[in-house]
Amino acid sequence: MDRIHIRGGKRLYGEIPISGAKNAALPLIVTALLTPDRLTLTNVPDLADIAFMAELMRQLGTSVEWRKSDVLGEGGVMTMRSAARPQSFAPYDVVRKMRASFLVIGPLLARVREATVSLPGGCAIGARPVDLHLKGLEALGASIEIAGGYVLARAPDGLKGAEFVFPMVSVGATENLLMAAVLAEGRTVLANAAREPEIVDLGQCLIAMGAKISGLGTDRIVIDGVKELGGVSYAVLPDRIETGTYAIATAIAGGEVELTGTREELIGALVPLLRAAGSEVTTTNRGVKISRNGARPHSVDATTEPFPGFPTDLQAQYMALMATADGTSEIRETIFENRFMHVPELARMGADISIEGDTAIVRGKERLIGAPVMATDLRASVSLILAGLAAEGETIVHRVYHLDRGFERIEEKLGRCGADMERQKE
Ligand code: EPZ
Repeated sequence: MDRIHIRGGKRLYGEIPISGAKNAALPLIVTALLTPDRLTLTNVPDLADIAFMAELMRQLGTSVEWRKSDVLGEGGVMTMRSAARPQSFAPYDVVRKMRASFLVIGPLLARVREATVSLPGGCAIGARPVDLHLKGLEALGASIEIAGGYVLARAPDGLKGAEFVFPMVSVGATENLLMAAVLAEGRTVLANAAREPEIVDLGQCLIAMGAKISGLGTDRIVIDGVKELGGVSYAVLPDRIETGTYAIATAIAGGEVELTGTREELIGALVPLLRAAGSEVTTTNRGVKISRNGARPHSVDATTEPFPGFPTDLQAQYMALMATADGTSEIRETIFENRFMHVPELARMGADISIEGDTAIVRGKERLIGAPVMATDLRASVSLILAGLAAEGETIVHRVYHLDRGFERIEEKLGRCGADMERQKE
């Protein structure tokens, strides 16, 4: 197991290439189950979660070839070809490691009319049930049974298009139903659907494969089922959470960093907060530039919401910034019920944060002090790295395997901009 040492106090100057989005690549990989043809993905990030998904795809009978690039930020190429009749069993051992494995249930039902997939269980950030995925599949005509920790889903006569209104917005359930509906008979309408850019990316790849979909990026997606889909080559969207994380890193450490291969609109809800907190954000022809020179950041409140609102996946990083800001801010988490695990760790570095229900009250400190801290989940662990950039002295972040699930070569990306950090073996 690795740990990361950071000696704080260095401003960041330079450029950081942004990788392909983990949360777009994961469902895109799964689309290979929808066609017997070859699917090629480019701009694939080299992350532990992507390796988990590739392994699951192999277990389902898909050939997977993944060519990685040594060039920082240059994505890999993944070529997949599913079996003529894919395996339809996703075991507990795989699904418990990564919840996104549950995304295979929709496409397997659509293609082979049956799937047995382990229930993912809860995780550190909340209970995270899959009831909406299952209700949606039932609406498309699947029979669902739960036994021994597994979901047994069957649609012997094929899925049938239907209207499904999500009682709450869910990214994963929207993706699962979208992948199920493209091969269902007739029209499916998904209302109160998620609007995240990763869903638009998935839908565009499906359209390129021959699917008939309209309304992507709105809360009403209409899908007219087709008989079969073909292979394509498709480039994964830039990672908006990585983009936002390095934008916040620059706001915390000070300096000027250009994030290349990404787009400002992907962090649309973060930009006004960063500006109000005292950073400059500009679009360049290669991406987006962030700078903060001089004065301490100001406190600005934030509330997490489904896209286009402020993303829960940037809440921990933003809290690290507010922990060093001038004033008091309130940060409200409305998506997950237990996503404040970074708070006690930030407190070890001297942050002054108290929690009242779903809201963290952050009283900014002029200085954080480096300390040994423990990563608890992916986004929480990166918030500790960001806090370490601003802290006085050395911060050691333990259990960085969480970080490797979602941030590619972070110590190199930040190190090239002048951060004093290195990875060591525990
Ligand atoms: C996706 O998770 C992301 N994961 C998460 O990123 C992200 O935090 C989340 O969306 C919200 O933006 C991937 O894309 C792989 P949801 P997902 O279904 O799809 C509740 C990261 O760090 N809910 O939109 O699982 C759920 O408990 C990860 O990269 C139900 O009640 O999130 C939550 O409170 C962490 N029943 C809310 O909805 C369901 O059937 C939103 O969850 C499904 C969800």
